[in-house]
Amino acid sequence: MIELSGVEKRYDGHTALAGVDLSVARGAFVALVGASGSGKTTLLKIINRLVAPDAGQVRIAGEAADAGPPHLLRRRIGYVFQEVGLFPHFTVAENIAVTPRLLGWSAERIDTRVRDLLDLVALPQEMAGRAPDALSGGQRQRVGVARALAAEPAIMLLDEPFGALDPLTRDALGDDYRALHERLSLTTVMVTHDMAEAVLLADRIVVMRAGAVVADGAPGELMAGAADPDVRALLETPRRQAERLRERLAEARA
Ligand SMILES: Nc1ncnc2c1ncn2[C@@H]1O[C@H](COP(=O)(O)OP(=O)(O)OP(=O)(O)O)[C@@H](O)[C@H]1O
Ligand SMILES: [Mg+2]
Repeated sequence: MIELSGVEKRYDGHTALAGVDLSVARGAFVALVGASGSGKTTLLKIINRLVAPDAGQVRIAGEAADAGPPHLLRRRIGYVFQEVGLFPHFTVAENIAVTPRLLGWSAERIDTRVRDLLDLVALPQEMAGRAPDALSGGQRQRVGVARALAAEPAIMLLDEPFGALDPLTRDALGDDYRALHERLSLTTVMVTHDMAEAVLLADRIVVMRAGAVVADGAPGELMAGAADPDVRALLETPRRQAERLRERLAEARA
């Protein structure tokens, strides 16, 4: 569904992506992880043509991503930005309707779609008329997901969608999104810094370092057998945390 080969990107002589090959099958849920600055956002933006690569190819559903006009591509790909990026002067409903309006849908069709999307992301209908700053952070993230889903894309790219949220909201949103991924048969690439989230939600984890993919596999596979010691250490973080928590709780009980 998504195929990148030899993708490179430089900014002022600084290499952001150093030849990335990646292929994401239809229906897959991929977590993209790696240190800050390793090129995760750049990679997502290249898939969506918000950024043009200096070298290499991107193919979406077998077609070159740069073959047609970018807006047609973006209609098939929902994007949730790292810092949600809702329009502050638009209501929730208007934010969700941005793409359908660009596509020239009728007012009636847009209204129905907005109502369905609010249900889909579990937001109450009465929030439709609110401004984004009258929502909690978690509610704003749900609006971001609804907006990205508005034109029924087959592919979703999410850049740290649940960052900066309390752990309970984060868990709930992660689980809700995973359920949406199944229900709508989406292909998902999600950037996250939370290894527990990556292990719990994704079928496959891609680890980046300095603009390159250094590991790629199912969570269990990478935990057991990643050749790179840093990658193994990264994948083992949730387990180490769970073990330390268990010890702490046992001490507290003793
Ligand atoms: N528009 C730009 N101009 C110049 N340099 C950029 C630009 N966008 C990204 N970079 C650089 O490219 C590298 C990769 O950035 P990118 O945003 O892809 O990292 P990231 O993995 O998403 O990091 P984070 O986890 O902090 O979001 C960084 O060194 C960054 O400074
Ligand atoms: Mg980023």
